[in-house]
Amino acid sequence: MPATSVFGAQWGDEGKGKLIDLLAKDADMVVRYQGGANAGHTVVVGTQKYVLHLIPSGILNPGKVNVIGNGVAVDPLKFLEEVDGLHARGIAVDGRNLRLSSQAHVIFEHHRRIDGLSERWRGDGRIGTTGRGIGPSYADKAARTGLRIVDLLDPDHCRVRLRAALAEKNALIERVHGETPLDLEAQVERYVALGAKLAPFVGDTGREVREAYKAGKRILFEGAQGAMLDIDAGTYPYVTSSNTGANGISAGALVPPRWINHVVGIVKAYCTRVGEGPFPSELKDAIGDRIRKQGNEYGSTTGRPRRCGWFDAVAVRYALEISGADELIVTNLDVLSGFDEICAAEAYELNGRRMLDWPAELASIEGVRPVFARHKGWSEDITAVRRFDDLPQAARDYIAWLERTCRAKVAMISVGPERDQIIDCRR
Ligand code: IMP
Repeated sequence: MPATSVFGAQWGDEGKGKLIDLLAKDADMVVRYQGGANAGHTVVVGTQKYVLHLIPSGILNPGKVNVIGNGVAVDPLKFLEEVDGLHARGIAVDGRNLRLSSQAHVIFEHHRRIDGLSERWRGDGRIGTTGRGIGPSYADKAARTGLRIVDLLDPDHCRVRLRAALAEKNALIERVHGETPLDLEAQVERYVALGAKLAPFVGDTGREVREAYKAGKRILFEGAQGAMLDIDAGTYPYVTSSNTGANGISAGALVPPRWINHVVGIVKAYCTRVGEGPFPSELKDAIGDRIRKQGNEYGSTTGRPRRCGWFDAVAVRYALEISGADELIVTNLDVLSGFDEICAAEAYELNGRRMLDWPAELASIEGVRPVFARHKGWSEDITAVRRFDDLPQAARDYIAWLERTCRAKVAMISVGPERDQIIDCRR
């Protein structure tokens, strides 16, 4: 704080939801700046489990302002569904604690349809998207044919813009993909009606965030997905369509980059990935299955089984470097309890050559082999541990190795899904 970036330093699902909820205690404002409802940020409070897709994970902390910035792709249906879901569970959500950027781009039903149809078209080359319309909406943003939240607020303007946009998309759905087009007028009326429901939340959030900063408020920027899914830095084309690390904040929240004075990367003690694409330390064997079972590694947005593997220090070093991270938070350390040996990729090998750095120059990194460092495991249940010194020696050694090899200080270690299952190493 005052302006902290917390982002995923792997391929997503690092446990950001729990950590943002926890860190939000010491913040005034929590800001999402990219992605959309493809995210699934899980927060457990007592016996209650909340999965947030679009709304920032600070929403469960009373008195905090939660902002969906201009860089987020917003599906109005998902937004209102999430607001209603929180209301139904007694969480107060209104235009004071939840702000929505008028400049954020809208995800329409045609984006979701085209997301699925494009994946079908790609066949074996599919990306494995979440099907939430993310890519098609960001594509329209870049093509300058998208509509923004502000466009939904003026019914006449919305009708004109959406009719024009949808006419083209319907041609694509019908003539390229051979599917039934959407009912143009029904869609237009539906989104005009949704616009009216969004209105109480909408504002110039860029200005609101900048004013909060200038007034000395503490701001937490919540990354979604992970650095290795970043559209520029990640394993393109197997990526999402936004800048997921600290590098996305300035454009996605409209704040000066030099305001971000603290950058924290979140990593699991091992590694997972959903969807297609390279994953050098993946385990397609019984150990991978065991990690999936012990870690309950199934997607919180799509329910898909996650691909599991050992920690990959090459990818994490790269992710931390791009965002300038000075601290690491390690999650799910408890999931590794019971393994006799824990491995972690410290380098890659390609054609007999050892590489310590992420091989961005390779068109595909499918061919690299991980070089594993081997660590002694521990058998103790560590879910009740709250002090670093109370961890088994082997777990402390593993964390010390992570710090050395990733060249970043471990600030916290999460040992279970609950808010209090955390070891604060800064004390
Ligand atoms: P999209 O973001 O739905 O377009 O999906 C592109 C890729 O990013 C796919 O491999 C997805 O599985 C992955 N992805 C998107 N959102 C998340 C997330 O929140 N966690 C993990 N993977 C994600």
